[in-house]
Amino acid sequence: MKPMISPSILSADFAYLAKDVEMLNRSEADWVHIDIMDGVFVPNISFGFPVLKYVAKLSEKPLDVHLMIVQPEKFIQEVKALGAHVMNVHYEACPHLHRVVQQIREAGMQPAVTINPATPVAMLQDIICDVYMVLIMSVNPGFGGQKFIEHSVEKVRELRALIERTGSKALIEVDGGVNLETGARLVAAGADVLVAGNAVFAAENPEEMIHRLKEL
Ligand code: DX5
Ligand code: ZN
Repeated sequence: MKPMISPSILSADFAYLAKDVEMLNRSEADWVHIDIMDGVFVPNISFGFPVLKYVAKLSEKPLDVHLMIVQPEKFIQEVKALGAHVMNVHYEACPHLHRVVQQIREAGMQPAVTINPATPVAMLQDIICDVYMVLIMSVNPGFGGQKFIEHSVEKVRELRALIERTGSKALIEVDGGVNLETGARLVAAGADVLVAGNAVFAAENPEEMIHRLKEL
């Protein structure tokens, strides 16, 4: 089955954001991936709700919002106001993850849990049946254009096995260093959704790159 593609606008041209969102509208992208950073959970700050309000207004694709912030539960209503389809929160940022997942669902969004490269897949055992999706970070979050961490392919296999064993319906998304080469291996290992920032926006023809990723 073809993977879903969620291009990350972290690598878009922020001076001409509308142009890039319109390109994504025309493209075969399934979702638009939105990286929110707070300079605390990750060592960088990206953009916040005042900017994203306009992205949400222009986008014809569902929004896949990835919060790299502490206490993401404080912003459930703001993410909902964007009309987000998915709200991704980090396992490492939520001591009461089960409660946050329920709150996201009650707010009418699909809850997803993200794990950092050093967090084992096994930590998801008791939440896997409650989430719409798991996002495996294949770089340390905070920046676009980083090198893919090889062990991530094995983590996708482990997660696929956990999903099968538990009867969960969770999707598997991977984020960081995804390109045609790493993407092909991730899809073979069982990934359903590929996030791609640099691979798409640094490509000569971003729309065609989305098409090629979609064909993996
Ligand atoms: C990293 C972000 C990613 C990033 C991916 O912290 O979560 O979504 O935009 O960028 P690439 O695809 O360039 O590694
Ligand atoms: Zn992301």
